[in-house]
Amino acid sequence: MIGIFDSGIGGLSVVKEILQLLPAYRVLYFGDTVRTPYGNRSRETIVKYSLEDAEFLLENGAKVIVVGCNSASAAAAEELRRRFSDVPIIEVISPAARAAARATKNGRIGVIGTRATVGSGAYEKAIKESNPQTKVFSASCPLLVPLVEEGWLKKPETKTIVKKYLSPLKVAQADTLIMGCTHYPFLEKTIQLKIGKKVKLIDPGREAALELKNLLENNPELERSLAKDDRHRFFASDPTPRFAELARRWLGRPVELSKAEVGGKF
Ligand code: DGL
Repeated sequence: MIGIFDSGIGGLSVVKEILQLLPAYRVLYFGDTVRTPYGNRSRETIVKYSLEDAEFLLENGAKVIVVGCNSASAAAAEELRRRFSDVPIIEVISPAARAAARATKNGRIGVIGTRATVGSGAYEKAIKESNPQTKVFSASCPLLVPLVEEGWLKKPETKTIVKKYLSPLKVAQADTLIMGCTHYPFLEKTIQLKIGKKVKLIDPGREAALELKNLLENNPELERSLAKDDRHRFFASDPTPRFAELARRWLGRPVELSKAEVGGKF
């Protein structure tokens, strides 16, 4: 199976992209809703949680791991690759950074994300690796995650907050903006409106899905080992009716949610 983990529910935006691009494959999702959010936590804590999340996916049949969470990708990608060196691991930062470096015309790239993601400097580092001439402008937007989880996608309050967060990036004249958090693609329309319609938006989930597609095309053995049907499996460390409802709404399909125990291993 294609294993995807996230700090909670937002990683379903990555699942959506994967199912759209690679509809033949079965996915196994784990959302760590007991310990969410990761975005305000220390690097050490996010690394520990991410190792446990990945371990859960591997124990349950994942053959490739997608780190859907930007905060986990920023903090733990290196450690995940070190500990699970025989498993392909796709995180969201590198493909999104490469896409932004390709897309920019004026070399000015904006990044929005959680405090953990922005504070880690991971996007900036990855963008500069692709193109050292670029200038990166980052802003953490901690209020957007709870707004999306409340379903406040079109409320005027949300639009005001998005505008406020994006204003420094607009002033900086970024022509490309990475939506560096699982929840932000759900606000894509508002973000596009507030940053300006000429700015190119990059969705890390979409870029990770493209990278996964590429990986499977170049690794027939891995491709053959994956389950191919739509019996997708969704787990959460605290499965609530609200999670199931949002999952159904976001993915546009019924979602059967099971409880998973993780933790205590690393
Ligand atoms: N999934 C997280 C991310 O993409 C957002 C939610 C959280 O802070 O845990 O950074």
